[in-house]
Amino acid sequence: MRMKRALLVMALGGLLVSSMAFAAGVTGTKHDLSGTLTTGTQMCVFCHTPHGANVDAILAGTAPLWNQDLTATASFGVYDSGSFDATDIAAITNTAYSTSLLCLSCHDGTVAPGTFYNAPNPAGNTSSEGVILGGANLGNSLTTSHPVNFTYANSITNGDTGLVDPGPATFLDSAGKVQCSSCHDPHDNAATPDVNVAFMRDTLAGSALCLNCHIK
Ligand code: HEC
Ligand code: HEC
Ligand code: HEC
Ligand code: HEC
Repeated sequence: MRMKRALLVMALGGLLVSSMAFAAGVTGTKHDLSGTLTTGTQMCVFCHTPHGANVDAILAGTAPLWNQDLTATASFGVYDSGSFDATDIAAITNTAYSTSLLCLSCHDGTVAPGTFYNAPNPAGNTSSEGVILGGANLGNSLTTSHPVNFTYANSITNGDTGLVDPGPATFLDSAGKVQCSSCHDPHDNAATPDVNVAFMRDTLAGSALCLNCHIK
């Protein structure tokens, strides 16, 4: 009896510790770049501004009030394979809106995070963050990455018993497409407490993330 209670206390304690340490949100994650500002501690401003947002990012569809400069030469080739069924996959460019382009405006390693379209007040406020180096720099080609920027439509799941049909709406963008944000939530680290596999939409334990879409 006493043993059981001790176990229960330990289990509850564990729950408490994990929920405190891995609370959802940007604060304290690698996307919290507030410490690199010359003045102030704003955090959302690295990606969003309430006024004067990046018009180039609002080309087709509504970009979320984007505040980072886009890469100048964007044309990120995308994945293909003999068994890949989607037909509308398209290279990601500056002239067609894709939420993946927003991630790549920092993660292609050409534009430093904190290259503001509309700098935060006070005037002249800048960030000391340099361009992304190392593993988080995906470069300018997505041909060796999981496919993004295509419609997860019934036409690809029909006859394919290996895919959940239809795709989980909450993982897709407003046009029903798979994007970076299908697997990553740039605002939330909670599903992957290990900071080295950050911002996942679901845990990688048992590959749960993948099993939301793939039946394998
Ligand atoms: C490192 C970049 C980054 C930071 C920092 C960031 N966001 Fe975002 N945000 C994005 C991207 C990329 C999208 C579009 C992809 C998506 O829908 O998840 C987005 C989408 C959104 C959206 C629209 C879609 C939705 O989820 O409702 C809102 C609202 C939003 N962000 C609010 C915020 C707020 C508030 C903060 C600060 C607490 C913040 N964001 C910080 C990158 C960021
Ligand atoms: C404003 C610039 C900016 C934007 C926009 C941005 N990121 Fe990041 N992201 C960063 C920086 C800076 C880091 C830390 C890089 C490092 O540690 O080398 C980071 C880290 C990450 C990491 C963790 C990498 C690691 O090494 O642990 C992931 C995953 C990630 N970002 C995914 C995304 C995705 C997906 C999007 C779009 C939905 C996005 N980011 C948008 C700046 C950005
Ligand atoms: C199918 C799911 C999926 C999609 C789509 C996806 N990622 Fe990832 N990403 C992952 C997983 C899983 C990891 C962790 C890999 C690992 O453990 O090494 C990761 C890791 C990363 C990292 C850290 C890499 C490193 O080695 O430090 C970055 C940065 C990143 N992703 C950005 C992006 C961007 C930008 C996009 C869109 C172009 C994207 N991801 C699309 C699943 C995905
Ligand atoms: C949001 C849904 C979603 C998630 C999450 C997801 N995938 Fe996918 N994945 C797809 C779709 C849709 C395709 C395209 C399938 C096709 O056209 O045959 C695909 C394609 C692939 C392919 C290439 C198939 C081919 O025929 O070349 C592989 C491999 C793959 N995914 C593995 C993974 C792994 C591993 C994970 C987890 C890290 C993952 N996926 C997460 C939806 C997803």
